[in-house]
Amino acid sequence: MEKIAVLTGGGDCPGLNAVLRSLVLTLEGAGGPEVVGLCDAYFGLLDDPPRLMPLDGKTVDGLLVEGGTVLGTSNSGDPFRWHDGSDRGDLVLERLRAMGVGGLISIGGDGSTAIAAGLMDRGLPVICVPKTIDNDVHGTDITFGFDSAVHCATEALDRLQTTGESHRRVMVLETMGRDAGWIALASGIAGGADVILLPEVPFSYDRVVAKILEERVRGLSYNLVVVAEGAAEQDQEPLFRDPEHRRLGGVGAVVAQRIQALAGIETRAVLLGHLQRGGSPSPGDRVLATTFGCAAAHCVLEDRWGVLVGMNNNRIHYIALDEVAGKVRTVPLNHSLMQTARSLGICLG
Ligand code: F6P
Repeated sequence: MEKIAVLTGGGDCPGLNAVLRSLVLTLEGAGGPEVVGLCDAYFGLLDDPPRLMPLDGKTVDGLLVEGGTVLGTSNSGDPFRWHDGSDRGDLVLERLRAMGVGGLISIGGDGSTAIAAGLMDRGLPVICVPKTIDNDVHGTDITFGFDSAVHCATEALDRLQTTGESHRRVMVLETMGRDAGWIALASGIAGGADVILLPEVPFSYDRVVAKILEERVRGLSYNLVVVAEGAAEQDQEPLFRDPEHRRLGGVGAVVAQRIQALAGIETRAVLLGHLQRGGSPSPGDRVLATTFGCAAAHCVLEDRWGVLVGMNNNRIHYIALDEVAGKVRTVPLNHSLMQTARSLGICLG
């Protein structure tokens, strides 16, 4: 194989550029195939003319510390369900073949992995590298981007603590986490939250307010509540700020209003939003992203396709795409972090 393509798909996260850098440097060092980047995921490839970015040691220089992705990304360009309703899967294969590309590295979350698996079924050799701040890709214990997001949310909680304490308030922080509450759970534990609400556990205001009042009786003068955007009250749907596009957001403000009304304590809400996705990757994410990029390059060199590169018990492993595509890794209710939270008396809803 003389040429491979690489794309970054779905929502961005810190560490994407670090993967590109280590993939390219490892392949270049081993005399492997040349690498061409597809701009804005499948949009760049399917545009006329295609928008591409040749990648070599020089172009990836300095990318390790850069947030976002130099290739650009999109979470709305599924070639099998294009905007005009057409199926452009075969066109993807045709264009890559015409460019002399023999295989594709897809760096993305669950959606991108499902698309890559579909392309593989049509005959394209693919390797997937899992990314997302949400940490919810099936087949890996951890994704890069997650650690940076947890840093961001924890710093926010630390700041909310001092202002909350000064005003004797309840401070509610809404984090990202559509289907999985990993960010809320980890940052809530790291930031000393009294209440952590996850998409995995339907919550009740009675239990949340009881916990807050209990802490006040114990003498605590403020409370921290972390709510994942996908968390919902028992028997209720999650809150969509844009129902048509199923865009979540706003549950934190609703939770804050209800706490204030039910507990009679002044409460404020902060929506952390895309701050969690921006900025330079944490050292941990730089290491993980570099490790994943390197592992993907070795797959190319060893002609090992149709796999997702993942981390299992702190070791790189490769898992067949058809075993992971379309599955989301939610927080298991018996996960050690959940047990830690329960042992600390944190209200989980
Ligand atoms: O990357 C996943 C995610 O962060 C989700 O937690 C969130 O719902 C979504 O992206 C928001 O994406 P955007 O607003 O960029 O479309």
